[in-house]
Amino acid sequence: MAVATAEPQSHELGEEQSIWFKLTPLLKGSNPMQVVMHMCEKYGGVIPINLKGQKLWFMSDVEHFRHVLVTNADNYTKYFDGIRPIFGKSMITVDGALWQNIRTPQQPAFHPKTFEEYFPFLQEAIKTKCERFSELAKSGETVEMVEETWTLAADMVCRALFDRKMPFNPHFVFKAVKTYTDVSSHKSIRLGRQSGELKDITNVDPAKAVETWLSVPEMVLSGDNLTDREQTLMSLILKAEENEDFPEFDRDQVIDEMKQYLWAGTETTALTLAWSFYIASQHEDIRENILKEAEEIYGDREPTYEDIQKLTYTKNVVQETLRMFPPIWALIRVAEKDDVIEGHEIKAGDKMVMCTYAAHHSSKYWTDPEKFDPTRFSPDRMKRRAKYSYLPFGAGKRSCIGGQFSFVEICLALPTLLKRFEPEYIGDPVQLNATVTLTPKGGLPFRITERKTS
Ligand code: HEM
Repeated sequence: MAVATAEPQSHELGEEQSIWFKLTPLLKGSNPMQVVMHMCEKYGGVIPINLKGQKLWFMSDVEHFRHVLVTNADNYTKYFDGIRPIFGKSMITVDGALWQNIRTPQQPAFHPKTFEEYFPFLQEAIKTKCERFSELAKSGETVEMVEETWTLAADMVCRALFDRKMPFNPHFVFKAVKTYTDVSSHKSIRLGRQSGELKDITNVDPAKAVETWLSVPEMVLSGDNLTDREQTLMSLILKAEENEDFPEFDRDQVIDEMKQYLWAGTETTALTLAWSFYIASQHEDIRENILKEAEEIYGDREPTYEDIQKLTYTKNVVQETLRMFPPIWALIRVAEKDDVIEGHEIKAGDKMVMCTYAAHHSSKYWTDPEKFDPTRFSPDRMKRRAKYSYLPFGAGKRSCIGGQFSFVEICLALPTLLKRFEPEYIGDPVQLNATVTLTPKGGLPFRITERKTS
C-alpha cells in the first residue's frame, strides 16, 4: 500500500512567504482581535496592506465577502501555502473542475439523511468521553477542554464517517497538530536557526509533528470496518479511488482526503464545543436552559436523532458561540485576474483576507456584538440579519461540507456531557490566539465534577 510521503517541512508555516507568518506581528499581543477590530473601524472595510513584495487586502465588509466568495468566486482561488502538510492536495485546497470532481462523490456522506445512521456512533464516542471525564472528575485533574473535545471529535469522525475505531493515541496526535499550526513556534525556531543556534523552544519539533500527522491516515485505513454499513464516507472515498474514469483520485488522494477530515472535521468542531463549555461555565442561566430543554424533550431516556433536531435553544447557543469565536476567523483567497473592489485595483496574485471575525463582531451588523445572546438566532431576528454577516462555515460553493454534521455532533454532546458533569473554568481571563484557527491562548483549563444522580 502506497504511503503518502512529504518531506518534513519544519519551517514552512513560519516562512516569510506564508501569510500566516506575515500576519503574526499584526496579531501579536494579548488581544489580537481587538487590534483587528480597531484597524477595521479606522481604515474601513477594504484595507490594502503591503508586506514585503506581497499585497494583502484585509476585508471586513459583507458586500466584499459576497463579491469574492459568491458573485466573482471563479476569480478567487484557495490559499493554502504553509499548511499543505496538513491538507495535502485534498478537496479543501484545490479549485475548478478538479475540486468539483473530488467533492461530488463525497457529498452524499454529508446529506442530512445519513445523519441518523451516524447517530449511534456519535453516541458511542460520547460514552467513551463520559468514562474519561468520570475518571478525571475522580482524580480532580485539570481538564484541558480543547484537547478533550478534539479527541472526542476525532473519535466521532473515525467511528461515524470512517467506520473505524480510532487506531491512534488522539492526545499525542492533538499535540502534534498544535505544534505544527502554532506559527509562533515556527518563527522562534526559524529565528533560532538564523542566529546560529537551534533552541528547543517547543518540546516537539514541528517536523516530527508533521511525521506523526502523516502516519495517521495509513493507520486508519489499515483498520477493520466497524460495521457492514454500505455507505460511509470511507466507502465513498475508496469507491472514487476505484473509478477508472477518475485517475486523479489515486491512493495519495485517498490519504489526503482523510488528512483533511481529520483536521477540518475535528479542530473546528472541537473548538466550538470547548467554547460552548466555556460559555456554559460562565453563564449559569445558559447551562440551565440547555439542560431544561433536554429534560423537556427526552428526559432521562437516551436522545434520538429526532430529539436532537428539536433542541433549538441548544442550537442557538452553538450558533452564537460560532459568531463570538469563529474557529476559522478569516477566509483567504488569491486573485487569479485583476479586479476592482470598491474602486481599489486588485492585481492578479494579490491575497484577499476576509476577516469573518470582524463582521461577526461589527456593530454595523449586530446589536451589542460583544454580548453573548443566543436569541439573535431566533427565526424572526435571523430574517433581519444582513446577508453574509455570519459566515462560520464560509459562503458560496466552497462553504463547509460538514457544517450540518457538526451541529448534530455538538447538539448531542453538549447537553449529554453537561447533564452528567459540572464544568468549572479555572483559567485566567481568556485571551485569543489567531493563527490558522482562532484558539484560546494556552487552552481552556477546567475542573469537572460528576453530578449526583438522584
Ligand atoms: C463547527 C465546525 C466547523 C466549522 C466552523 C467549519 C468551518 C469551515 C469553513 C469556514 C470552511 C470554508 C473555508 C474557506 O472557504 O476557505 C470549511 C470547509 C470545509 N470543511 Fe468545515 N467546518 C466545520 C466542521 C466540519 C466538519 C465536521 C467537516 C467534516 C467532517 C468539515 C469539512 C470541511 C471540508 C472538507 C471543507 C472544504 C469544502 C470545499 O472546499 O469544498 N468541516 N469549513
